[in-house]
Amino acid sequence: MAFYPQSAASTLRFVADSLVPDKFDFSIYSSIAIFVDDKVPLQFYEPILNRCSADGVPCRHVSLTAGESLKEFEGWSGILDEMAEAGLDRSSLIVAIGGGSLGDAVGFAASIWNRGIPWIAVPTTLLAMVDAHLGGKTALHHGRIKNRIGSFHLPQEVWVNPDVLQTLPVRELRQGWAELIKAALIGGEPFFNSLENGIPENLLPSEELIRRAMEVKVSIVNGDLKESGRRKVLNLGHTLAHALEMERTDQGPRWAHGEAVSMGLVFACTMAEKMGLAEVPLTEKVSTLLELSGLPVRIEDAPETDVLLDRIEKDKKSRGGRVSWILPERPGSMLIKELSREEVRDQLTDWIQKG
Ligand SMILES: NC(=O)c1ccc[n+]([C@@H]2O[C@H](COP(=O)([O-])OP(=O)(O)OC[C@H]3O[C@@H](n4cnc5c(N)ncnc54)[C@H](O)[C@@H]3O)[C@@H](O)[C@H]2O)c1
Ligand SMILES: [Zn+2]
Repeated sequence: MAFYPQSAASTLRFVADSLVPDKFDFSIYSSIAIFVDDKVPLQFYEPILNRCSADGVPCRHVSLTAGESLKEFEGWSGILDEMAEAGLDRSSLIVAIGGGSLGDAVGFAASIWNRGIPWIAVPTTLLAMVDAHLGGKTALHHGRIKNRIGSFHLPQEVWVNPDVLQTLPVRELRQGWAELIKAALIGGEPFFNSLENGIPENLLPSEELIRRAMEVKVSIVNGDLKESGRRKVLNLGHTLAHALEMERTDQGPRWAHGEAVSMGLVFACTMAEKMGLAEVPLTEKVSTLLELSGLPVRIEDAPETDVLLDRIEKDKKSRGGRVSWILPERPGSMLIKELSREEVRDQLTDWIQKG
């Protein structure tokens, strides 16, 4: 596994119009492979293709169907075949243009090709902009376990152009808003308060909001790449969310990740308020923002409390039956508390019944 010092960081750039930063020099690479989500319009990434050919570098452009199947070994191994076709060696570069699934799959391939070659992440979903493409975690699924295989391999640069979100379906935009609201709650009062009149009806966030959410994640990750300490606060809302994401219908998971995180955030705030840790009315404020983004804030037809608790304990955050919960005191101040099953059960039952 590649070693990164604790202060490792990707260069983040906001790019308008021509997607490629002016100063970026493709000609220093021996060859380039560009992997693109097939839902992303050509005109968005054409400037990258043009710049590669202008710089005279052999460049292979590969279109991929994104989604969780790209993170299954069978789907993912095709990426390695394309990398071989592109003739990638230690002096090559990979560019990944897409959402979190494509970034996780291509980033992992970059991390093991020749024991790790550089890659550039170009996020095309809101979730990838504010979360998935930041922080260097790459992942594949194995068996039925999500993200079981992976590595830490920071992209060398992250290029963000919010215009690409205009083609993103609204349900996908909402997934990003759940993480953006989480980032604001972790980030502090000025960011959190700015959301109170800042959620646009079309759910297309301003560059400023995206930038602030990115800064929250990056500032935490830069100090704790391997999640040995402070990075854990980024799991806010995710303890319950992971258990909810295991609920399935015949059509697939009942809730998308951001929807589960939304309910998880509300529950974390509710529990913190009930324990006298959070300032009232934090839960109400957070719920309002999530609802404005079209996200669920209570569970309908909830699974049994004990089923959820079993899943939570099996999740990797459980130690000897006690589970780490991230509990907000107020925007900008998070507590990490280990709670027993009994401490959580009453709260969860109560919260579910109120729904
Ligand atoms: N590595 C990390 O730190 C990290 C963090 C959070 C999530 N993730 C991973 O990210 C994945 C979810 O990412 P996601 O929400 O971006 O999903 P995704 O990559 O599956 O993209 C969602 C859908 O949007 C489409 N799409 C992408 N960009 C588009 C655009 N501009 N216009 C139209 N359609 C577009 C895709 O084809 C796909 O159908 C999960 O696999 C999750 O495990 C990773
Ligand atoms: Zn998440």
